[in-house]
Amino acid sequence: MIQNYIKQSYIKTFVHFLALMPAAWLIWQGWLLYDFQDNMLTANPIKFIHHYTGDWTIRFILLGLAITPLRKIFGWNKLVKFRRMIGLYAFFYVILHFLNYVVLDYYFDWATIYKEIIKRPAITFGMVGILFLLPLAVTSTKGWIKRLGRNWVKLHRLIYLVGILAITHNMMMVKADLFQPLIHGAILALLLGYRLYRLPIWKQKRSQIPLSPPPA
Ligand code: HEM
Repeated sequence: MIQNYIKQSYIKTFVHFLALMPAAWLIWQGWLLYDFQDNMLTANPIKFIHHYTGDWTIRFILLGLAITPLRKIFGWNKLVKFRRMIGLYAFFYVILHFLNYVVLDYYFDWATIYKEIIKRPAITFGMVGILFLLPLAVTSTKGWIKRLGRNWVKLHRLIYLVGILAITHNMMMVKADLFQPLIHGAILALLLGYRLYRLPIWKQKRSQIPLSPPPA
C-alpha cells in the first residue's frame, strides 16, 4: 500500500517535471535573450512565445481529452490520475499565452486589448476559450468535485467546447502554414467523435442491428 503510494508520487513528480519542461525551456531562452546570447526566440520573440505557449495549451487540452478513449480502448485506467494535472497545465500555458499578449505585446493597454477582443473574432474565440477554462481550473479540487456532485461532470464537459474554440482560434490566427492546426483539428475531431460514437443513443441503435440476416 505505502509502496504503491510512493511509486505513484514518483510518477506524478515525473509528469510534473515533463509538463514544466516547455516553460523551463522558454525561461532559459528568455534568459539567453536578456543576456545578449544566441537563443531560439527568433527575431520576433513575442510572436514566438505566442505560438509556443498557444501550441502547448492545445497539446495539453488534446492530451487531457485523450485519457478517456485510452482508458476505454486499452483499459489504461490509471491514466485518470493525471487528468486533473494535465487540465491544469493547459490552463497554466494559456495564462502564459494571455500574459504574453497583455504584458509584452500590448503593455497593459487595456483599451486596445478590449477593442481587439470585441473586433477580432479570432481573439474573441480565444478569450471565450480562456473564460471557459477558468471555472474548470477553479473546480478541479477534491472539495469542488464533492460539492458539485454530478454537476461537476456536466460542467467539465465545457472542455469539449474549449477544444473547438481553441482550434478555431488557432486556424484563424495562423497566417501561412495550416498544417499544424489541421493536425490538431483532426485529433480533436477523433477524440470528440469517439465520445459521440459512445453516446447511449448510438449504443442502442447498434444493439438493434442484427449480426446475421434473419432466416428467410
Ligand atoms: C484556449 C485559449 C487559447 C488557445 C488554445 C490559443 C492558442 C493559440 C495558438 C496555437 C496560436 C498559434 C497560431 C499559429 O500557429 O500561428 C495562437 C496565436 C495567437 N493567440 Fe492564442 N490561444 C488562446 C487564447 C488567446 C487569447 C485569450 C488571446 C488574447 C487575448 C490570444 C492571442 C493570440 C495572438 C495575438 C496570436 C497570434 C500571434 C501571432 O501570430 O503574432 N490567444 N493562439
